[in-house]
Amino acid sequence: MSDNNIYPIFSRMQIRNDKEGLLGQHSIMIWLTGLSGSGKSTIAIALEKELFRLGFLCRILDGDNIRSGINNNLGFTQEDRIENIRRIAEIGKLFIDSGIITISAFISPNNEVRNLARSIIGEKDFVEVFISTPLEVCEGRDVKGLYKKARRGEIQHFTGISAPFERPENPAIEIDTTAMSVEESVKKIMDVILPLISTKKDVEWGF
Ligand code: ADX
Repeated sequence: MSDNNIYPIFSRMQIRNDKEGLLGQHSIMIWLTGLSGSGKSTIAIALEKELFRLGFLCRILDGDNIRSGINNNLGFTQEDRIENIRRIAEIGKLFIDSGIITISAFISPNNEVRNLARSIIGEKDFVEVFISTPLEVCEGRDVKGLYKKARRGEIQHFTGISAPFERPENPAIEIDTTAMSVEESVKKIMDVILPLISTKKDVEWGF
């Protein structure tokens, strides 16, 4: 272990289980994947709000706090997207090890990057949620005006236009926001995650 002069201090740190006990929750990663404009961030924010209301502590990781900060040296080549996701997964793991339920909202456009994240986080803590809103709908919304720019060729490697998006093979949950409201989307996720995150808390919830 000391080959590279790194000496882990994990054995002296309070363990995850104690922290989960303190918070009264089990921590997991809720990994949202989907096109730009598919609704990932909106769902992440609504989900965090609902979980908070029920007494669960969460952390959202998304472009606003990651790509503009720690990952501001990364672009959108496949190589950079892999590094983007690798760092996000490692950061997510730190939150999960602190007992905090973590919600990530990144395109994560292919199985290679999603499997990388899954392997860093660990299969049993990883819940993959595919926001499957079709390209036409995302492009129709074009909230940030980026699809227009991508169509004009002003943005290179834009996911869905000039870079691929590979559908997840076996997501735990799939949500198409064309047909589903934010509240319904949150409910669909809650139905799956509540049994995973609940401990002794007697949680009653519903809109
Ligand atoms: S990922 O592919 O590496 O997972 P990430 O979710 O971090 O992507 O960033 C996607 C966001 O960056 C988009 O919602 C959009 O606002 C912006 N963006 C800028 N350039 C691109 C691009 N070439 N492809 C996709 N998104 C882009």
